[in-house]
Amino acid sequence: MKENNCERHHHDENCGYEEEYMTMPLIGDPAPEFTADTSMGEINFPADYEGKWVVLFSHPGDFTPVCTTEFITFANMADDFKALNTELIGLSIDSTPSHIAWVESIEKIEWKDFKDTKIEFPIINDVSMDVSRKYGMVHDEGGTAAIRAVFIIDDEGIVRLIMYYPASVGRNMDEILRAVKALQKADEANAATPADWRPGEPVIDPLPGSQESIKERVENAEKNNLDVKNWYLVFKEDPEA
Ligand code: BEZ
Repeated sequence: MKENNCERHHHDENCGYEEEYMTMPLIGDPAPEFTADTSMGEINFPADYEGKWVVLFSHPGDFTPVCTTEFITFANMADDFKALNTELIGLSIDSTPSHIAWVESIEKIEWKDFKDTKIEFPIINDVSMDVSRKYGMVHDEGGTAAIRAVFIIDDEGIVRLIMYYPASVGRNMDEILRAVKALQKADEANAATPADWRPGEPVIDPLPGSQESIKERVENAEKNNLDVKNWYLVFKEDPEA
């Protein structure tokens, strides 16, 4: 184990590095609060985002190629996220002037079918590493840079989904959008979503809590328009499809 794992990961008084302590919220935890300067002014999180879903994502650095492709893609999907009452917030351990200069340069790049890109979401200046430490965004791989983390936070400020990618692998932005849709669908329909679920496709009816109700569900499946694959795998139509 590297010596600095002590500094990064352990709340161990023998380490002597308590002020450098790195935490990571888990799924189901309240999203850690912070106040930060961004490319679009100060934000207080989660207070400024009350009633909204948020995709908080980190990237290793400004003016880096993979991150640039992620930003172009995210920026061009901003309306899709807005339609889901979802706001994007970026972060890297770079300064506000650096974020602003990078954004201006990205907006001039043409890539794939993307041109005239407008980046209209804030990017956190985390030179202090305050936010990245609270969200466990600095791993050994990145030295003092953040890795590619994604936190999907719901409209009540709860962490609902976490993804971590290394610097070398650009994220699938469509999967992030699909994951927001799947989370919102699971909430609305009191259901879970199967592998590769897309909006409009059947969802999974939750397993009833007792043997008797499991039996009843199978017996009444046709009447209730349920598609029973087995007693533990039962699909229902997406109520909004
Ligand atoms: C990139 O975004 O291209 C990148 C960032 C850090 C390390 C490697 C690649």
